[in-house]
Amino acid sequence: MSYPLVAPSLLSADFGHLQRDIEMVNRSRADWFHLDIMDGLFVPNISFGFPVIKAIRAHAHKPLDVHLMIVDPDRYLDAFAEAGASVLTVHYEACTHLHRTLQTIREKGMKAGVSINPHTSVRLLEEILPVADLVLVMSVNPGFGGQKFIEHSYDKIRRLAAMIRETGSDTLIEVDGGVTLENASRLTEAGAQVLVAGNTVFASEEPEETIRRLKEA
Ligand code: DX5
Ligand code: ZN
Repeated sequence: MSYPLVAPSLLSADFGHLQRDIEMVNRSRADWFHLDIMDGLFVPNISFGFPVIKAIRAHAHKPLDVHLMIVDPDRYLDAFAEAGASVLTVHYEACTHLHRTLQTIREKGMKAGVSINPHTSVRLLEEILPVADLVLVMSVNPGFGGQKFIEHSYDKIRRLAAMIRETGSDTLIEVDGGVTLENASRLTEAGAQVLVAGNTVFASEEPEETIRRLKEA
């Protein structure tokens, strides 16, 4: 696997031409499809649900990286396993029994991810790293694509990378929100191994070339 992995977020795709945009990602050097699931409660927006995920899955030839921005995600772990998620990420702030949730995700054959909002300290992940395959650092407040990157995120990624090295786990660090061609290298230098990019890819004149440049970061 060559790092960084690049995961275009379909939230910024053209839903009127979803198959075309998925095929662009298939052809490109992107590694994963990033799918943002929003419930209008955990975040002030609603995105899409199972019928759309099914349509995406029918055309996508790369793993689905599913980011759940929903309250009480335990209700839907089975459904996302059946929908074909390879990575399933829940929010730290949405789970009362996070350890159990992550273990259940693994038992269902998916990689287990935990995401933290900008206000949540990486220190709170210390006890959970051994059961997390991935930590998704939100570098904007979740809910919308195309927002401005929060600069403090570099420091969080650096501290998280140090914690992961200390515990000797092989947890991946993913960064999501406001990732651009300008900040991508600084993010990988800080320790990010997976770059999510919505607006940067889909608003680009040459999305495949933009993905290629993100891969070089
Ligand atoms: C935001 C989502 C992101 C979003 C990223 O709540 O989790 O995945 O689609 O979009 P950009 O890259 O445009 O900030
Ligand atoms: Zn996301």
